[in-house]
Amino acid sequence: KNKKVSRERKAPGKKALPRLRSQAWFDNPDNADMTALYLERTMNFGLGFDELQSGRPIIGIAQTGSDIAPCNRHHLVLAQRVREGIRDAGGIAFEFPIHPIQETCKRPTAALDRNLQYLSLIEVLYGYPIDGVVLTTGCDKTTPAQLMAAATVDIPAIALNSGPMLNGWYQGERTGSGTIVWRAREMMAAGEIGYQEFLKLVASSAPSTGHCNTMGTASTMNSLAEALGMTLPGSAAIPAPYRDRQEMAYLTGKRIVDMVREDLKPSDIMTRAAFENAIVVNSAIGGSTNAPVHLNAIAKHIGVKLTTADWEKHGYKIPLLVNLQPAGEYLAEEYYRAGGVPAVVAELIAQGKIQPALTANGKTLIENCEGQFTSDRKVIFPYAKPMKKNAGFLNFSGNLFDSAIMKTSVITPEFHKQYLENPADPMAFEGTAVVFDGPEDYHKRIDDPKLKLTPASVLFMRGVGPIGYPGAAEVVNMRAPDYLLKKGVTALACIGDGRQSGTSGSPSILNASPEAATGGGLALLKTGDKVRIDLKKRTANMLVSDAELKKRRAAFEAAGGYKYPASQTPWQEIQRGIVDELSEGMVLKPAVKYQRINTT
Ligand code: FES
Ligand code: MG
Repeated sequence: KNKKVSRERKAPGKKALPRLRSQAWFDNPDNADMTALYLERTMNFGLGFDELQSGRPIIGIAQTGSDIAPCNRHHLVLAQRVREGIRDAGGIAFEFPIHPIQETCKRPTAALDRNLQYLSLIEVLYGYPIDGVVLTTGCDKTTPAQLMAAATVDIPAIALNSGPMLNGWYQGERTGSGTIVWRAREMMAAGEIGYQEFLKLVASSAPSTGHCNTMGTASTMNSLAEALGMTLPGSAAIPAPYRDRQEMAYLTGKRIVDMVREDLKPSDIMTRAAFENAIVVNSAIGGSTNAPVHLNAIAKHIGVKLTTADWEKHGYKIPLLVNLQPAGEYLAEEYYRAGGVPAVVAELIAQGKIQPALTANGKTLIENCEGQFTSDRKVIFPYAKPMKKNAGFLNFSGNLFDSAIMKTSVITPEFHKQYLENPADPMAFEGTAVVFDGPEDYHKRIDDPKLKLTPASVLFMRGVGPIGYPGAAEVVNMRAPDYLLKKGVTALACIGDGRQSGTSGSPSILNASPEAATGGGLALLKTGDKVRIDLKKRTANMLVSDAELKKRRAAFEAAGGYKYPASQTPWQEIQRGIVDELSEGMVLKPAVKYQRINTT
């Protein structure tokens, strides 16, 4: 019987494969006791000997959907179609839950749980008889968490997202999930709408099942999962309620069985070339500032060295092509109708910007997408006439931090005029720092007239990195105070050691590393200091003498470093003890060495 199994497992072009790893559980005469125990309990939901011992691949469905994770809840429906695909291709589906994450509901922040979902998935994939896995992605952190785990365990894996929600509408205008919140809070602060209308306006942006319909972190990470090759082509953009998504679920289930038979693993797909492709695609779609954090983390766990400098090197000169909120106008339904990721990649292929890298269907990204041009130029712009040139991230350094990024595709004409058009000093600005220690401090003081904020103020948010605010809060995109909003000043420059929502249209300088909590330069900054930001030189400095900085450093250390709130849960404390900086992907440092663990 075993010989028959190994004959079946001959991958095209590869040598004979070892037995399926699940057979070590279900068909192992050398360990009859354990085999019997595994079998008797697994069979108790109705599976027979012939199914479990026939060498059919056991396919895990990592279920992230539940009532507390609405963005991924649609996977409870899709999993049925995934199962049918798995069965039709000759596999057996084992669906299991992993630690849930919901971006909008988890306190203090959902990012705290990315590494917990990562750990929980590794333990299931390693510890149970699973030959391949379908990752049910969607809401922001669920995509990177599962790709990180697939990288670590390195058994055949394919991602399927829940799909974006349908477009939101309010009084005849598109309302994009997440993005509308930032606009609505300005309207409420300016007195244009009250609390009840604020709630109604925001709720209108989420009209159906699915994840965010904007190019926030969810659509970004799922588009990048497709660009990396970890999904079937055309998968990312299909809206959750469309029938096409159910069909994609079926095809994804079918395909993973063959990936097991071909022994096509994450390490075959997520190569250096694949990550560089993803960086290029991120610029073209106007992707989230969370993408470098997550992609650098995935790369670390598969053993590819990727840095924030790579994001500027490979991504900055790429133009913005996709006209989706927050950088543009439209939402998920138009993105899908215009061709989604394949149509974006087709533009990039035509310019020689995409490298041949293997994808989940066994073909390269180029083979999958070449010539798949859009038919809707309002939504996906041609490379030669883009929405914006040079639309990638800039990577800054200086005495404020070693690395922080800025999403240039969301610089508005107003921001440009306010900060970057001084004829004597173009593309650079100097301003006066106003420093907040965490979001509570900011909420308490932002509208206080005593702060005397002006358009020359630069708002700083510190103490919100992976250790300062466990998980790194999405709070760097601060709004202007009510008294400036009423005068029509809507954008003040923002800088911080936390993150911002991918749905935010703010060109903040964020993910500053090292964070204040680990003694980064931001910890020494004081309200009233002059700062200088230079977009040409990519520098960000406080204009404070070295002698003064030395004095401040000594005082800071004598006082015991940066004070941050105590941990509220065991996981907060555990993660704070082992987590790396945002520029390093916020990975758990001891986990990195477990790349491609031995799963036999
Ligand atoms: Fe879950 Fe945006 S809040 S996808
Ligand atoms: Mg978010």
